[in-house]
Amino acid sequence: MAGGQSKADDESVRENFNRAAAYVMGRRTFDEGERGWPDPPQFRAPVFVLTSTPREPWVRQGGTTFTFVTEDVEFALARAREAAAGKDVQIPGGAHTVRQYLDAGLVDELQIHLSPIVLSKGVRLFDHVPPEIALEPTCAIHSPGVTHLTYQVVRP
Ligand SMILES: NC(=O)c1ccc[n+]([C@@H]2O[C@H](COP(=O)([O-])OP(=O)(O)OC[C@H]3O[C@@H](n4cnc5c(N)ncnc54)[C@H](OP(=O)(O)O)[C@@H]3O)[C@@H](O)[C@H]2O)c1
Repeated sequence: MAGGQSKADDESVRENFNRAAAYVMGRRTFDEGERGWPDPPQFRAPVFVLTSTPREPWVRQGGTTFTFVTEDVEFALARAREAAAGKDVQIPGGAHTVRQYLDAGLVDELQIHLSPIVLSKGVRLFDHVPPEIALEPTCAIHSPGVTHLTYQVVRP
């Protein structure tokens, strides 16, 4: 964004946005973004929002339309895959949504962007995820504020 600084984190963030051509997120993650994301939002691609409450699509500038999906996680992923046309689908969160995709065996790669901030409470990312899933580290990028960790998800 305008006025920002260039840091070691930039490459990680830039690469992620370049690789993804569609997104799936949970409604609570969307709620925070609806209040805070600029227009155009950073996604510049279709975003499918899982929710149990139907809502008309929210069209923003720059190629981002938020489409609300009331079916299951597989259906939302299928819509996103179709929109991505062979490029990556990214699931930016939150934890409730990510762990359903892990549980369903639908995640190829997991990225954790770890900040040294102690919150003392929150949703556990791996609760109920089957222990058969293994994580193989493939990349770690350090900066003073964030450690970017990438794992390949290995399924039995
Ligand atoms: N630190 C980070 O990088 C990061 C990233 C993302 C999010 N966050 C934070 O995480 C928090 C939200 O995460 P969260 O885990 O609480 O929630 P979430 O996964 O973002 O959203 C959960 C909501 O998504 C909908 N949903 C999920 N699975 C569904 C399904 N199978 N069918 C229908 N609807 C489904 C439901 O919405 P309805 O209630 O509408 O039915 C559910 O209440 C926010 O505070 C956000 O800022 C942090």
